[in-house]
Amino acid sequence: METKKLVISAVLLCLTACTTDKKIEVRPTSENLRNEPVTPIEPAVVENPAMVELGKKLFFEPRLSKSGFISCNSCHNLSMGGSDNLKTSIGHNWAKGPINSPTVLNSSMNVAQFWDGRAKDLQEQAGGPIENPAEMAFTHQLAVELLTSIPEYVAEFEDVFGTASIDIDKVTRAIAAFEETLVTPGSRFDLWLTGDDNALNAEELEGYQLFKSSGCMVCHNGTALGGTSFQKMGIVKPYEATSPAEGRSAVTGKDADRFSFKVPTLRNVELTYPYFHDGEAETLAEAVEVMGRIQLGRTYTEEENSNIVAFLKTLTGEQPSFMLPQLPPSSDETPRPEPFDN
Ligand code: HEC
Ligand code: HEC
Repeated sequence: METKKLVISAVLLCLTACTTDKKIEVRPTSENLRNEPVTPIEPAVVENPAMVELGKKLFFEPRLSKSGFISCNSCHNLSMGGSDNLKTSIGHNWAKGPINSPTVLNSSMNVAQFWDGRAKDLQEQAGGPIENPAEMAFTHQLAVELLTSIPEYVAEFEDVFGTASIDIDKVTRAIAAFEETLVTPGSRFDLWLTGDDNALNAEELEGYQLFKSSGCMVCHNGTALGGTSFQKMGIVKPYEATSPAEGRSAVTGKDADRFSFKVPTLRNVELTYPYFHDGEAETLAEAVEVMGRIQLGRTYTEEENSNIVAFLKTLTGEQPSFMLPQLPPSSDETPRPEPFDN
């Protein structure tokens, strides 16, 4: 233990002495990583910057919707933790969505996508909302026609994929490549994990210990503290749901999977309220109370609850930051948007 501390101080000293940069980056190394069941988030490795840039444009592209008004960013707002902070989302024609919008941040770490896991990965997922009548209400064919009518997009797809023809597979590949960059390293919790003793205060540490010792980590585990499995909502006591969502059984057809949902990531959870698939819990205190009671059969004191909440707030990492993409203008041939269904 003492040697470990010494090594940490040595590493920190060297970092202080050896860098001219004001901001000291304490990134995971085998020497200073704590022996904890979570690993810090690593910064994204961008293999194909041109594809990521194209995917970023498409993520912000409202013309991929029938109304010309709704983009991925409408419901996964990157200025608001990658979610919309609504109980359930608003789609085409102001349609009330059936379910809460999960964050796109760190979504590349999920075993599968959607609350019920019906898409195997980010590329498969990205095709869904474009043609969902209650979301973007377009079709894949119309989306491809629209992009093809804009010469700058045709040129950019050619640059990235080597062929001028645009198809939905390329569209979703580019969006997924962009989404893979939406990771949030550098949270206070990760700084603590990589050896910075001052990154967490006593309450936050207390909250983390309680989070571990009371069993939250049985389900919220891995780097993202979630996203690794499907679990029943209401293990010890039933959950009174307000939405008709059935969860995993909609995919597997198995009765045993009824009311199992993908365990959501707790990274950036301070930003992604309201909580649960039906958005019923408005605050973190409420979500923690419900989890303790129905998943673990445990009633926390006010102080315990507030310590866990304090810990959860240390999971907010560096949010994606970049220049807003400039979208090429429509051409005279571009199909015009239909914002209203009359
Ligand atoms: C109208 C709002 C809306 C729009 C537009 C929208 N989404 Fe979503 N998104 C949602 C909702 C709601 C869910 C959860 C649906 C479910 O699980 O059944 C979701 C789920 C996801 C997930 C899965 C995350 C997870 O943890 O399972 C990803 C990734 C995602 N959307 C990306 C996108 C992309 C990319 C686009 C644009 C092509 C997009 N979304 C457009 C509302 C929206
Ligand atoms: C048996 C597995 C399990 C355990 C144990 C568990 N959770 Fe959860 N947790 C889930 C599932 C599944 C959901 C999503 C349920 C839903 O939306 O219907 C969830 C959702 C949450 C959410 C809401 C996140 C969001 O984005 O909507 C928070 C916060 C949370 N859990 C915290 C905790 C805490 C704190 C503990 C320990 C007191 C805990 N969980 C214990 C499975 C678990």
